[in-house]
Amino acid sequence: MDFPKGFIWGTAVSAHQTEGNNINTDWWRWEVSKDTETTTRQFPLDASGIACDSYNRFEEDFDLAKDLNNNAIRLSIEWARLEPREGYFDLAAFQHYKKVLNAARSRGLKTYVTLHHFTNPLWFANKGGFLNPESPKIFARYARRCAQELGHLCDAIWTINEPQVYALMSYTVGSWPPNKKNYLSSLIVQINLMRSHNAAYKSIKEVYTKPVGIVKNIVWYEACSTSTNILDTWFAKFIYFMNEGFFLNPVVKNCDMLGLNFYFTTRFLNLKTANPDDFNSDLGWWIYPQGIKNILLKLKRYNKPIYITENGVADAKDKHRKRFIHDMLIKCGEAINEGVDLRGYFYWSLIDNFEWHQGFWPRFGIVEIDREHDLKRKPRKSFSYYAEICKNNAID
Ligand code: BGC
Repeated sequence: MDFPKGFIWGTAVSAHQTEGNNINTDWWRWEVSKDTETTTRQFPLDASGIACDSYNRFEEDFDLAKDLNNNAIRLSIEWARLEPREGYFDLAAFQHYKKVLNAARSRGLKTYVTLHHFTNPLWFANKGGFLNPESPKIFARYARRCAQELGHLCDAIWTINEPQVYALMSYTVGSWPPNKKNYLSSLIVQINLMRSHNAAYKSIKEVYTKPVGIVKNIVWYEACSTSTNILDTWFAKFIYFMNEGFFLNPVVKNCDMLGLNFYFTTRFLNLKTANPDDFNSDLGWWIYPQGIKNILLKLKRYNKPIYITENGVADAKDKHRKRFIHDMLIKCGEAINEGVDLRGYFYWSLIDNFEWHQGFWPRFGIVEIDREHDLKRKPRKSFSYYAEICKNNAID
């Protein structure tokens, strides 16, 4: 199966998960706090600490992306470093990211840059984060400044990564800071994230002409094939809507492209989750490649270029990764053949990294990070498999 000429082949990472010592954030504060009162104190399983030390070892990481025959990298820049105090932008931090982006570009990697990937500066978190009605204005000011200082080095900008996952984990499940369990807050945060995207899009566009979009995690939901309960079908459609159209409708006019993060599918039987366990990641996520195609076909109606901005598997032994990549890409290719304007695919992740409240044990990397031996980068077997695909722009 051939992919369209100029297809983007990449891998993705994010700042807090890889850089290390990202101390000025709400995440860091929570990771090192000894507070035992929150009910979710079993998390995080680790503190991010030095993470992968990519703050210093980014050249090594980009060399690996180059060896993968990638022509692009998706990475995030850290708001807390760039605006460490409200309204004060740190030019040295911008300088650092200029070096990072230049290092990627000099290796032939186009840069797809995310402005917000789950972490908040402490000062912003202290003002209520995205619960604050002023948050869109505050975020748009940061976004505009990034576009101004770094825009010439960004091939595309993603405003916010997985807004609903953030709202859910931080304000409904409570496993991420600020560890709240309040549906109303979660809804307000979602609405403020929509407003923040829209405001940021407009402010970026004042100084930047290349594409700007949002990255959305979407789960595929369906009724179990053995279900005879019509409620399962309705429920699946409703939840899918809440996960897709509910969020995208208010922002899509302010998107030059859409990013899809796809990880799993959920099936319902009598309104309960009933997934098979024939193909599961180390996190227990059921892998169902048809799901990615179903979502791509749904997204077609927005008439926007689409990128798979994340798709990956936690698989420490590298047992499933080859098959995972193969099966997902075949489904992506089928979607393209059925008229979906899919422009690129970023495997999550280039390297094993800090998997949020789960700590370091889930291993998504196509490159292993050996945490016992100085964070040595060790390409897994599937590395050469993906490298071939990227080189050939085709899959056997
Ligand atoms: C996030 C990543 C995360 C990955 C795997 C996505 O929700 O954007 O930061 O590591 O999924 O859980």
